[in-house]
Amino acid sequence: MARTTQVGAETKQRRSPRDATAGGGPPVNGDHFAGDMRGSIERAFLRAGGLSREAVRRRPIIGICSSWSELNPCNMGLRDLAESVKRGVTTAGGTAVVFPTISLAENFIVPTTMLLRNLMAMDVEEMIRCSPIDGVVLLSGCDKTVPAQLMGAASAGKPAIMLTAGPRSCGQFQGRPVVTSDVWTLGPDRVMGRIDDEEWDALEGVFAPTVGVCNVMGTATTMAIATEVIGMALPGSAVVPAVESRRSDLAERTGIRAVELARSDIRPEDVMTQSAFDNALCVLAATGGSTNEFIHLEAIAGRLGVSLGLDRFAGISEKTPQVLGVRPSGDFSLEDFDHAGGVPALLAVLEPLLDRDSVQGDGRTVADVSADVRTAKPRPNPCLRSLEDPFEPASGLVVLRGSLAPRGAIFKRSAAPRALWTHRGPAVVFDYHTAQERAQDPDLHATPDSVIVLRNAGPVGAPGMPEVDFVPIPAVLRKAGITELVCVTDGRMSGTEGGATALHVTPEAAIGGPIGLVRNGDEIVLDATTGRLDLLVEDRELARRATEARPSASAARRGYERLYLDHVLQADQGCDFDFLVDRA
Ligand code: FES
Repeated sequence: MARTTQVGAETKQRRSPRDATAGGGPPVNGDHFAGDMRGSIERAFLRAGGLSREAVRRRPIIGICSSWSELNPCNMGLRDLAESVKRGVTTAGGTAVVFPTISLAENFIVPTTMLLRNLMAMDVEEMIRCSPIDGVVLLSGCDKTVPAQLMGAASAGKPAIMLTAGPRSCGQFQGRPVVTSDVWTLGPDRVMGRIDDEEWDALEGVFAPTVGVCNVMGTATTMAIATEVIGMALPGSAVVPAVESRRSDLAERTGIRAVELARSDIRPEDVMTQSAFDNALCVLAATGGSTNEFIHLEAIAGRLGVSLGLDRFAGISEKTPQVLGVRPSGDFSLEDFDHAGGVPALLAVLEPLLDRDSVQGDGRTVADVSADVRTAKPRPNPCLRSLEDPFEPASGLVVLRGSLAPRGAIFKRSAAPRALWTHRGPAVVFDYHTAQERAQDPDLHATPDSVIVLRNAGPVGAPGMPEVDFVPIPAVLRKAGITELVCVTDGRMSGTEGGATALHVTPEAAIGGPIGLVRNGDEIVLDATTGRLDLLVEDRELARRATEARPSASAARRGYERLYLDHVLQADQGCDFDFLVDRA
């Protein structure tokens, strides 16, 4: 606590323009709008909403930034949690006001939530910056809502803490529990007619049986874990189930902590430091978490002028064994991980690889939290192993570089068949927009060695870098029983999916990356043991092809999509807008 307070004091000069205490220290015990007409009007209108004179004048006002929406079932538990947060804020002597922002549901937003993540981040930033609040509790859950809120809060620069929604419960199908990633594993059975209409209808009814986020190590939970590791959520909060009373308890404590942060003027930049992000990268490597986290962490860090970069991640992941085995990077469930002690237990295992002084959401350090875990001695659970006896001696995530990905790509080794970690084969090129149709072509030339090149799925090309839901296995191969091929794409993939896919190939095809120059039959070499991804075509020939017309990117002429296309950065830079990076 002492450390964070001290760091907070160092940054007091950077106050929000709205904050009338500028130059007068932290807003301890209110009167933060005193003296001017603007303050009077704000107080009057806060009282119009039912707050007392005391509540608006003498207490820190804590905004509760909620991404609750009936159009986002993953986040629908947040309305109840907001009530618990309010109780905590009141208990600690603050005044809580709930406000909404855009909410992005992975399965509802077309073409992709990634197109709108930066829009939500802008909404969150401006609402925090421009509203008469001294601090904020961020409530989110579904994949993009977490990074969008963290990006916005980082740029707004007011004291902030997050509570995530928690994973939803598991349903039961054909006598066994179903988790989110089962939709991918059961999909082929449905296509082949092995699951009939009635059974599929039953599956739809139990597949997502409660509010909360996808109950595997997908992007939402990977980001919830990262939020905890970088000190923006209370220790032990990431994987507590959405519907358990423990989450209400966490919400109340989060409200209490928000008042402490506001009173001590501890801001996101005091907490989300380079070492905090390094710890998050280490945890990402150790969990085999969603590949999307790298993009989001890069974007959040970029808002604070902190540089990550694929090389940094490559260096950290090389030294980090995979110690957690939760689906899809293992056989265990998130419940197992929760029972094993959650993120604090994971930090205790990884402590020798982490910055032990990095601050956690309750003000303690990684070393403090790890020491408490050792004292409590949680019951060992096979989902979490030691550094000496890991699931894999090296990280489940690998950075690839080579002539096909000069600025990098990511390969999730932990979710790919080991036989495909190294592979050489001829390209079969698909355009993202027509891939599924072309895969049905009975005359398509493809062999079990083929490498699927799925391009124009990047930030500019798609646009929005959508998730590639299924690798388009050509029908001619599927009929022969082939279900796994190596795939190379400039798009993303859901964290709930597996497969031997090189993702986020940068630069993307739409801005002239080499992936746009691949022709059917070109030889491609993947080596996920050494981190290489190469296109075996002569430079002279590639130069010739580069002079030919490249596939046209989206031609949006107006609105948000136009803004997006003009300013979005590539995957290795977090896909943020160029004008939002850094706060300077
Ligand atoms: Fe919302 Fe997975 S669809 S977390």
